[in-house]
Amino acid sequence: MKEKILVTSALPFVNNVPHLGNLVCVVSADVYTRFLRLKKTNVISILGTDEHGTTAEVKALEEGLTPKQLVDKYFKIHTEIYDWFECDYDCYGRSSSKHNHEIAQNIFLKLNKNGFIKQDILEQVYCDKCKKFLADRFVGGTCPHCNYEHARGDQCENCSKLLDAVELINPKCSVCGSKPVVKSTEHLFIDLPKLNPELKKWIKSTEKNWSENAKTMTNAWLKEGLKPRCITRDLKWGIPVPLKGFEKKVFYSWFDAPIGYIGITAECKKDWKSWWHAKDVKLVQFMGKDNIPFHTILFPAFLIGTRDNYTLLNSISVNEYLNYEGGQFSKSRHQGVFGSDAKNIGIPADVWRYYLMVNRPEKTDTHFVWEDFQEKLNNELVANIGNLVNRTITFTNRFFDGKVPMLTKKELNLEKEYKSVEELLDKIELKKALKEIMNISKSANQYFQEKEPWRIIKEDKEKAGNTLANLLIIARDLSVLLTPYIPKTGENIQKQLNLKQQDWSDLGKELGAGQKINKEELLFHKLEDKDLQKFKDEFSGKNNSPFSKLNLKVAKVEDVKPHPNGDNLYILKIDVGEKRQLVAGLRPYYKPEEIKGKSIVVVTNLQPAKLRGEKSEGMLLAAEDRVGKVGLVLANAKPGTQVLVDGAKPGKKEITFNEFLEVKLKAKKGKAYFEKQELKAGKEAVTIDRDVEGKIR
Ligand code: 2FM
Ligand code: ZN
Repeated sequence: MKEKILVTSALPFVNNVPHLGNLVCVVSADVYTRFLRLKKTNVISILGTDEHGTTAEVKALEEGLTPKQLVDKYFKIHTEIYDWFECDYDCYGRSSSKHNHEIAQNIFLKLNKNGFIKQDILEQVYCDKCKKFLADRFVGGTCPHCNYEHARGDQCENCSKLLDAVELINPKCSVCGSKPVVKSTEHLFIDLPKLNPELKKWIKSTEKNWSENAKTMTNAWLKEGLKPRCITRDLKWGIPVPLKGFEKKVFYSWFDAPIGYIGITAECKKDWKSWWHAKDVKLVQFMGKDNIPFHTILFPAFLIGTRDNYTLLNSISVNEYLNYEGGQFSKSRHQGVFGSDAKNIGIPADVWRYYLMVNRPEKTDTHFVWEDFQEKLNNELVANIGNLVNRTITFTNRFFDGKVPMLTKKELNLEKEYKSVEELLDKIELKKALKEIMNISKSANQYFQEKEPWRIIKEDKEKAGNTLANLLIIARDLSVLLTPYIPKTGENIQKQLNLKQQDWSDLGKELGAGQKINKEELLFHKLEDKDLQKFKDEFSGKNNSPFSKLNLKVAKVEDVKPHPNGDNLYILKIDVGEKRQLVAGLRPYYKPEEIKGKSIVVVTNLQPAKLRGEKSEGMLLAAEDRVGKVGLVLANAKPGTQVLVDGAKPGKKEITFNEFLEVKLKAKKGKAYFEKQELKAGKEAVTIDRDVEGKIR
């Protein structure tokens, strides 16, 4: 029977904009699938978004959205990015779909029926301030095993041990920073000890196909001994638990996320069971290193325990992390290239894909470095592949009237190299295979140099023609070999060669002599030094703290009068180093004498506006809490003093009100903050009148 291959990429959390590092896994699985398609393998690939869990709830709260609105928003962003990056998945869906609800509940009921679900009291971390149970990853603290101080409640990055948030020393709520308490509630657990013998046997028989890091981490888990693992949570957003007494709870997102692979297949394929309940299917899963035990232990345990003969993991390809220029990607600091940036700066998707794969973090973490990116683009894509294809096609057009010359002797025999690329790709050695392909192109360039067709053409047209005929074959072969990695380029080469879609079986085939080719077209463009510098600056996170858009200054209020045409408004005369007039909606909250004489903080670079007929040259800052209490931001400094956070510069450009709103300022414990930085007037922190806590605007 012909083998069927089911490829999955880890389902990204959908509460952020993915950065280049997040794209490694998604692109890797796409490269592998495209390769299998070229070989006419019966393959399908699955991608989708992981939509449940506390992160989504917390982020929704931050953005003032419901969890559903939040995941809808980011689902759209993710989808656009994966499309733009040419990630061509057969099935693309969401872990929150109706199908996944049904399948996850069904798997749970089977597990329960088969005696693999236990009830137990769970000690859970609860934040009194946020009024919430905290998901493990939302608790930070010191690892009880290795004393690493920045461990997360689910896992310690330093010693890789899986943790339970209640074990952390000095726990902190990552939402509000306060110390959480431990509360007990009844929960449901998957009985891993009971499944242990079967799991061990299965792992032993399969792990030969796994990457080293996957084997090591899984065996470390087994060695430590499997404990029952909680699969329910006290949240509202998620898949409800279909068991009496637990209806108010939802599944732990790591329960329904991997089941999401099945749900997504069911959403898009009527015959999904022939993929997920099948003996002839090889399941190949791609993921980042922090996902290993969820795929090698938990997900298989969920499936084995149903007794329904689900398809289990066969090979696993685990990537380490891609970091940014020696640091981390950070959306809030504008540090690093995110999917949405890559889309907008004019460098084609294929170039990013190439860089991600040639620099794929396979055995250790790697870094995106702009100089390296430029080097790979200019010296490998432009000077190697681009040059070979371009001069071959240009020559054919110029000297042979755009027709494939006669092949008198096959001189470039690279079958062995093609075989080696295929073997590497079969083993999912994506980086090595790509390097091998680039070497093939390099040999072809050397052949071009040695044969000197530009000189020989004058003496022996047939001989020069043979050289070009050989090179045209290689150009076609490269178009096939490169298609999994850089699909648009593969297509473009075939278009220039006037060929219909080629596949793996076309490798090495001769092209018909006299066949017409098309006009040459450059495949890639160099990245110039000036652009390199521009991008480096733009994504460095240094000048781009959103705070640096604002120009805040201390102002003394000299006079306050009611606005003649606005019940809520005052007209203020202020001194901010110069005299200005402001209109402010403070009447419901402050009496005139409570404002006059105070030193407040004013946004001085806001577009001037007319409010009900009175000009307003700036806006004062005030904090507002959830019940509508308002307190002015106050400063103890001379009028005109700049108000800043450490390291920021005052904004020079005029901004709109909406641009101001993008800079999220907060009042907490009597002080004003941008992210975790205090706002200061000179050396002294500004203060909040009436101790109001909440958003500042
Ligand atoms: O690490 C992550 O981004 C997870 N959302 C991966 C989940 S993979 C699978 F279980 F869905
Ligand atoms: Zn908290």
